[in-house]
This record gives sequence, structure tokens and C-alpha cells, in this order.
Amino acid sequence: MNITFAKIAVPAQGAVVFGVAEGSKSGIKLSGAAAKFDKQAGGALTRAIKAAEFTGKREKTLTIVAPAGTRVTRVILVGLGNTSTLDETAAERIGAVIYDAVSRDTAAAVVLEGLGGAKAKAGDLVAHVAGGVELKSYRFAKYRTKEESDAKPRIKTLVFQSDDAAAAKKSHVAVAAVAAGVFFTRDLVTEPANIIYPQSFVARAKELTADGIKVEALGVAAMQKLGMGALLGVGQGSRRESQLLVLRWDGAKDKKAPPVAIVGKGVTFDTGGISLKPPGGMWDMKWDMGGAGIVVGLMRALARRKAPVNVIGLCGLVENMPDGNAQRPGDVVTSMSGQTIEVLNTDAEGRLVLADVLWYAQERFKPRAIVDLATLTGAIIQALAEHYAGLFANNDELADQLAAAGKHVGERLWRLPMGDEYDKDLRSPIADMKNIGGGKAGSITAAQFLQRFIKDTPWAHLDIAGVVWNEKGTALAPGGATGYGVRLLNRFIQDAYEK
Ligand code: BES
Ligand code: MN
Ligand code: ZN
Repeated sequence: MNITFAKIAVPAQGAVVFGVAEGSKSGIKLSGAAAKFDKQAGGALTRAIKAAEFTGKREKTLTIVAPAGTRVTRVILVGLGNTSTLDETAAERIGAVIYDAVSRDTAAAVVLEGLGGAKAKAGDLVAHVAGGVELKSYRFAKYRTKEESDAKPRIKTLVFQSDDAAAAKKSHVAVAAVAAGVFFTRDLVTEPANIIYPQSFVARAKELTADGIKVEALGVAAMQKLGMGALLGVGQGSRRESQLLVLRWDGAKDKKAPPVAIVGKGVTFDTGGISLKPPGGMWDMKWDMGGAGIVVGLMRALARRKAPVNVIGLCGLVENMPDGNAQRPGDVVTSMSGQTIEVLNTDAEGRLVLADVLWYAQERFKPRAIVDLATLTGAIIQALAEHYAGLFANNDELADQLAAAGKHVGERLWRLPMGDEYDKDLRSPIADMKNIGGGKAGSITAAQFLQRFIKDTPWAHLDIAGVVWNEKGTALAPGGATGYGVRLLNRFIQDAYEK
């Protein structure tokens, strides 16, 4: 899809979209290019607005097909709501609505006049409408050898007309960087587990070197040397070699300034191991590497918009399989931190992987803060469904910054409590801890487990099991991998560390 920005003009062909501010109950009055176009069409728009009682409510559309007196295929009026309250996320959602309205045309002009208010500048809003179009246009069709041609989107070119095209174009550079990151994440998450496994994940992540990111991977021998018995225990039943992926973006002026570390759970398939999962829905566990997928997409977004900040992305990549060499329930493993863990349930594997990656991140990089992302517990889906990811933290400021960023981009977080009452559940009779709690508050005991591998670094854990995949689709994503987290962390890093 080719996106360009231009001055306002009355469009003459293809599909035409006019953004329309919300009017009073008695109706709306067209202005600017829309009014001129309406005149050419003999008042067809005004009549349609009346007949459909279209009020310009945000994200509502009204389509007028092939209006007489013009050569356009269709006109879509899209409601902007109250334009003075438009922010970037609202603009993106409007963009997503526009994509759905024009995807069957080959070319479209989108006219956005008179935007900009208290919450955002016109150029930024136009850029984010374009970003919403891009985000919603995602498709993963590489394995379809036959496809109904009328199911395929046709849209090739979109021109966004606005009062300040130069500002929109400039602002769109960062917006497109983030969209590219989201697409990379969705691609990785959607790939099945016979294609994406630890080493092939690393190979795909090497594409990031073209963006200016340093990519490094540790295999089993290197991890054994480091004493990563917790991570390695999870992968030992798999034919696929476990990997620890380290991505570096040194964008700050001072390349030595302490980085922020973002850690992702990358279980490329989670059968549960010897504590085997039931077959129904097990296919979902191809996206148990969603946290790692976000890390990779985020790094692309940061690099492509040249974020002035140092960030390390780390992914613990393993496949959790039952096998003659798999770890057994009851095994005791020694983590890199030296702490021992009794593995009572081999399906509580994400925390074992993260234990070693979190420790390694602190030892090697001394980060100013660590945020981990993990499809860690089914319990978080029980608690929050697909509407929020769970947020856990040892630091209120960090938690507040993350929650604010999530609210800003519409990828919401809800903080849950932590405390000794929950931590006690992890006591083991023969090791320093066991890898499961007592059965209640499963998401919290999982977070407590992770915290045992955090020294005094500000740390937050996002349990994203409910938000990585959405069969029905979300406002900004078609069904499948949502890419949740890339926009959220991009915003968080920008607001908290790029001042
Ligand atoms: N990957 C799963 C969590 C999960 C479940 C993610 C459903 C997405 C959808 C995780 O490894 C797991 O199996 N967790 C167990 C922990 C339990 C054994 C303590 C769970 O939540 O049941
Ligand atoms: Mn599991
Ligand atoms: Zn898992």
C-alpha cells in the first residue's frame, strides 16, 4: 500500500473519503472540499446525510455509491466526532474504519480538513489516521495457495489530503516505523511452530541488523556455561536447540548510558511438557512466544524512528515438549542466580525461562529498568479477558508510566497486587522454591516467582496471555495476532526515557 500526503483538492476519481465533524442533532453542514464536491454531485451528499440521519458520530460511516455528475466510485463520509477531543489513538481507530471502507477500491483519496485541537496537532492526527489504515490492513496469506479473488483487498494507493501535508508527512515517519514493528510482531506470532522455533526465530530477528540493531544469540553450550539450568530444563525435551536472543539499540547520545531492558517469553510451542496440556485448543500455544515477538517488533519500531535511547531486547527461546529427555515433574533445577527450583508442573515453564533471562539481563547490562512480557498464565484471562493485560511491578513510578502509556495508545493494563502473602505459596520442602503456587491467584504467584529473580532494579511484568491473539480482531487489527504491546512499549519508552 502506497501512502502519500497532499494539499486539499476536490477529488475526481477512485474512492473518496471525507472526514466529517460531528454536528448537532438537526444534522451536519458540509464545508470545504466536501461542500464543493457535494455541489458538483447536485447535492447527493446532503440528501444522503438527511436520509440516513448521519450525524458525524466518531467512527460511523455513510457510503454513497457512484454519485451522478462525478466520476468517483464511491464517497464515504466518516464521522470524526468532536474534532477538538481527537487524540492519536482516536485518529488511528478512524483510520481502521476507513481501511475497511476503501479496501475493495484500488485507489482512494482521504480528505481530512480542519483537524487539530487541544489534544493533538493536525499533522500528527492525519499521520495517525494513515497509521490506523496501515495497522488494519495487515494480512497473513502466505500459506494460501487458493484464494477467492473477491476476498482479496485491492487498495494500492491512498492519498491523505490535509491543511498541512508537510507536517503530516513528517509525523508519519515515526508512525510508519511503529506500524512496521507491529507487522513484524504479527508475522512472527502468526507463524506456526514448525516454521518458527528458537533458531529460526533468531534467524528472522537478524533482519533487524538492516535497521541498525545489533543481534546476538547464545546457544545451549553458552547457556550451560552461564548456569541457566531453569531455561535449559524447559528446552531439554525438544529437538530444537534453545536460544537466548539479545538485541541492542544504542540510540542515545551517550552509548554507555544504562539501557532499559525489555524481556520476552519466547516459548515457540508449549505442549505443557510431561505435564501435557489437553488437546482442545493446544494449537493456541504456537503464540506462546508472543512476548518475544513484541520485543522484536518493538526494537524495529525504535530503530526505524531512531529513538534517542539505549534499549536491550532479550528473548528466552525454547520449545516445551514431552520426550524421553524432557524434564519430569519433581525435578530440581539450579537457575543462573544460584537459586534452586522444584519443577512440580512442567507446564509452568514460562517463569523458568524468564528466571534465567531476567537474571542475565541484570548481571550483564545493569539496566535502569526491566519490563518483561509473557503469555504467562491462563488465570490472567480469567481475571481480565482480552480487554486488559495484567501489570505487576516492584516500583510504583514504573507501573504508573506503563499504565499511562497503555491508556494513551489504547492497549490497556490493569495492575494487580503483589506481596509476601502470595510469595509464601512458592515454598518447597526440598528446594528454594517450587514453580507453582497453591492454585489460587495463579497470575500473582507467577509474578512472585519472577520477582525472586529481580535484585533491586525497577521491574514490571506484563502478563499478556489474554491480549496477544484475538480471533475476532480488534479495532486496529484483523483477527489473529494483535501486535499488542509494541505501541504501548514504544510510547512508554518515548515518554519515560526520551526527554
Ligand atoms: N503458556 C501458558 C499460559 C497460557 C494459557 C497462555 C492460555 C495463553 C493462553 C503457560 O505456560 C501455562 O501453561 N501456564 C499454566 C500455569 C500453571 C500450570 C501453574 C496455566 O496458566 O495453566
Ligand atoms: Mn505452559
Ligand atoms: Zn507457556
